[in-house]
Amino acid sequence: MSVIKGIKGVKDLLPEETPRWRFIEESARRWATRYGFHEIRIPIFEVTTLFARSIGASTDIVEKEMYTFQDRDGTSLTLRPEGTAGTVRAYVEHNRAAIPVPQKYFYTGPMFRHERPQAGRLRQFHQFGVESYGMADPRADVEVIALLWRILHDLGLPSLTLEINNLGQAADREAYRPILVEYLKEHNAGLCGNCKHRIMANPLRVLDCKVPECRSITEPAPRLSESLSETARSYFAQVLAGLDLIKIPYSLNHRLVRGLDYYNLTTFEVTATNLGAQNAVGAGGRYDGLVETLGGTSTPAVGFAVGLERIAMLLPDSQKSLSPHDKIIYVAGFGTQGSVSGVTALEELRLSGISAVSDFRSTTLKAHLRQADRLGCHFTLILGDDEVTKGVALLRNMESKSQYDVLLSSLSHQIQPLLLPS
Ligand code: HAM
Repeated sequence: MSVIKGIKGVKDLLPEETPRWRFIEESARRWATRYGFHEIRIPIFEVTTLFARSIGASTDIVEKEMYTFQDRDGTSLTLRPEGTAGTVRAYVEHNRAAIPVPQKYFYTGPMFRHERPQAGRLRQFHQFGVESYGMADPRADVEVIALLWRILHDLGLPSLTLEINNLGQAADREAYRPILVEYLKEHNAGLCGNCKHRIMANPLRVLDCKVPECRSITEPAPRLSESLSETARSYFAQVLAGLDLIKIPYSLNHRLVRGLDYYNLTTFEVTATNLGAQNAVGAGGRYDGLVETLGGTSTPAVGFAVGLERIAMLLPDSQKSLSPHDKIIYVAGFGTQGSVSGVTALEELRLSGISAVSDFRSTTLKAHLRQADRLGCHFTLILGDDEVTKGVALLRNMESKSQYDVLLSSLSHQIQPLLLPS
């Protein structure tokens, strides 16, 4: 029969890799909790309109990357391409605006985008994200950016840059749009096909294009910063001053416009030089209009999401080599009585909090000891018929090879101090 394979761009995480992932997720959770964020768990699929209305109909994500299907009653559903839209939907649906303290959430889980798979770009990938609701204050932006920076820095990721830009308010961008469109139309000939299409659909995204010819054409283009209102400028200046105050290094990037339409004012992205083409580790920004767009009362909001695959790629070897297990004991039960006692010993050890394993295919001591070595066990508990008759087991230290008798009647009491952290 033919072998069924996994889907292109959708990866398995094998047991050798999961300790590293747990380490990353636990570290992110710890930092988020320290900054006053609480976990929210939102569904993996939602009605399609939620994403179309929030991310923007003319974005790449909505135009060509969503996994959309019809439910049995004809409703159009979509696998979530990101976590912000669903979090806002939950915020509105559960009337969280009525709670008189800022609502600060974090989430982690799989997201789905039909992109061309390559290193660091998958069709099912994982994000850790945070969203902060209710505070129209530059200190809320600084808080979120600081959390992003601390998570990545604490993991020891190398050569990170925090890029930041001011997208202004919707009215600022409306004022800038015709100025930019006019410039782009004049220089239309040299632009790539994608950018030509974007001139009318989403002109700001042309600034973000990575094609060198497009970049040189847009370099002298009029800048959004020249169209910003005094309020937008002063808000952004306070965000930068806050980052200076707590010594978070950043670099200004006037091209940073982001691939999602809901942002205003502060937008940011952390990139890493050794990630290749897909160099964004995490990104986010302020999105003060989205709660209202999705039917809630006007609520300021700011957040970010990091890509866990990209973090896992960057994590230094020192962090990668974390042992997947605590100290572990192998139970070698063989012979008629030894096999039976082996089962009770395994259960007793596990009930007392010890990690204990055995390979039930092994029938000789030699075979058991080989498996204990392969499994990286620190001790082996040897239980043959002779030992059982005497009411003991032999405890073998796999490194020093020394061994001594332990009483079966008080097995876990004698072994616990050796295996559990004091
Ligand atoms: P985003 O920039 O689309 O923002 O995604 C955030 C991060 O997810 C990226 O920086 C990248 O690390 C990772 N990522 C995105 N697409 C892929 C992919 N195909 N394969 C692997 N990793 C990927 C958002 O999703 C916003 N919701 C962030 C946000 C939260 N803004 C405000 N709050």
